[in-house]
Amino acid sequence: MVTVFNEPNDVQVELEIYLFSRLRDLGRLSVGRNARKRVKDWFEDDKNNSFEFTEADRRICIFKAELREKETSSFETLRNIGVQILGKCKLHKVETAHIVSLSNGMEVFFVLEGALLSSYSFDKYKKEKATLRLNSLFAPDLDDIKLKELNSIQEAVFFSRDLVNEPVNYLTAVRLAEEIKAKGAECGFSVEVLNKKKIESLKMGGLLAVNFGSIDPPSFSILEWKPENAINEKPIVLVGKGVVYDTGGLSLKPTAGSMDSMKSDMGGAAAVAGAFIAASRNALPLHVIGLIPATDNRPGGNAYAPGDIIKMYDGTTVEVLNTDAEGRMILADALSYAKKFSPEFVINLATLTGSAAAAIGSKGVVAMGNADKKIMSSLELSGARVHERLAVFPFWDDYKDLLKSPIADLKNIGGKEAGAITAGKFLEHFTDYPFIHLDIAGPAFLDSADKYRTRGGTAVGVRLLFDFLKNRS
Ligand code: BES
Ligand code: ZN
Ligand code: ZN
Repeated sequence: MVTVFNEPNDVQVELEIYLFSRLRDLGRLSVGRNARKRVKDWFEDDKNNSFEFTEADRRICIFKAELREKETSSFETLRNIGVQILGKCKLHKVETAHIVSLSNGMEVFFVLEGALLSSYSFDKYKKEKATLRLNSLFAPDLDDIKLKELNSIQEAVFFSRDLVNEPVNYLTAVRLAEEIKAKGAECGFSVEVLNKKKIESLKMGGLLAVNFGSIDPPSFSILEWKPENAINEKPIVLVGKGVVYDTGGLSLKPTAGSMDSMKSDMGGAAAVAGAFIAASRNALPLHVIGLIPATDNRPGGNAYAPGDIIKMYDGTTVEVLNTDAEGRMILADALSYAKKFSPEFVINLATLTGSAAAAIGSKGVVAMGNADKKIMSSLELSGARVHERLAVFPFWDDYKDLLKSPIADLKNIGGKEAGAITAGKFLEHFTDYPFIHLDIAGPAFLDSADKYRTRGGTAVGVRLLFDFLKNRS
C-alpha cells in the first residue's frame, strides 16, 4: 500500500512531480534556465500532457492539470493523470515521489486519488507478487483532513475490492461477516453477526431459503457507526447484497461465462463495508447502520426450487419462479428488518440484475427509488463528483403488477421487460420508509482494468456513499 504524507520532507525523493495549468505558474518551478526553456516549449506545443527530464541528479516530471471546481469531469481527468503518474513511478521503479502543485493546490487530491486507486493489485494467491516499489508519496499541498480522507478512501476501496476478489472457497458467508467484524474493531464501528440459529429463530425465510442448497451457513451482519456528535436523529441505513457466490441455484446459470465472476455477487455488501470504513476513519458525525444478509446460492439436495412458496421475515409469501432471482429474497428480509430502526431513509446496494448491466453496462449505477427528490439529487451529485454516476430509472407503481402471483402475495420475478425495475419494486414491497435502490451489477466487477478501476472488484459504491454521507454531515 502507498502512503501519502503532507509534512515537509528533507528526503531526497526519487521522482519530483509538478502539476500546473498556467504558463505563468512556471516561475515557481526551481530548475535551471535551460530546463525552463524546454518546459515552456513543451507547454506551448500542446501535444503531450506531460514532460519529463532530468537535471543533475533530479528526475522531474511535469503535468498539465487543471481543476475546474464546477466541472466534475475535470476531477476525473485529474484522477486519470494520477494513473499516468503511477505508471511513471512504476517505470522508474521509485520508492518515493513528491507531487506538488504550482497552481491551485486542490488538484493534487484528485491526482493522488487516481494514483492510489490504480496501485491496487490482488496477488494474495500468487507466488510472484506485483512489484510496486513505490511506498510513499509526499504532497505538501494537502491539509490534514484531506490527507486522512485520501488514505482512508484507499483503505476502504482496497478492503472492498479484496472482499469481491476473494473466491467463495475462502470467502464464505460466515467469513465475510468475520472479516467485516475484524475491520470494524480496527476502525471503531461495531459489527454484530447473527448466526444461522439466530436467523432461524428470527424466521428470515428469504435468506434461509436461498441458503437451503448450501453446505455453508448464512450470516447476517449489523454494522453501526454512532458517534456522540451524530447530527441525525433517525439513522441512515445501508443494505448490501451479500451473495458470496451465485450459481443460480436449481435455475442454474449456463456455465459458459455467466458464472465465472459470480464471486462478485457480494459487491453490494463490500460497498457498504467500505463506506463504514471511510465514515468511521473520518469520524463523520452521522448515525449510520449497515445490514448485510449473506449466503451462497447453490443447487443441492435441499435447495429451494422453482414453485416453492416461501414465507419471508415480515410474513409476506413469495412464489419462487426462478431461484436465480435470489438477491431480492435475502435483501427483502434485510429491508424488513431495517424497519425496526425507523430510518430516515434506506439505500440498498446490490449486483441485482443482468437487466441493469445490459441497460447501461459498466459505466454507471442504475438507481431508482421513492425517497425525497433531494436525496436522489444529492446522490446523483456525489456520483458525478466521484465518477460513479447514476442513471435514474423510473419507479412507477405500474411495474408492481408484474409481480402478482395467483397463489402467493408476490412472485419473485417479473416479466421479460424492465427486469431491473421489477426487482426494485419487489424490494420496495418490504419497506415502509423512504427507499433508494442502486443496482451495481454492471460496474461491480471488470474483466479488464479501466484506468484506476483495476480488473476484478471495483469497489463501486464506496466512494459514492462516502461522498454522499460526507455532504450530509
Ligand atoms: N447476481 C445476478 C445478477 C448479475 C448478473 C450480477 C450479471 C452481475 C452480473 C442475479 O442474482 C440474477 O441472477 N438475476 C437474474 C434475475 C432474473 C432471474 C429475474 C438476472 O438478472 O438474470
Ligand atoms: Zn442470481
Ligand atoms: Zn445474484
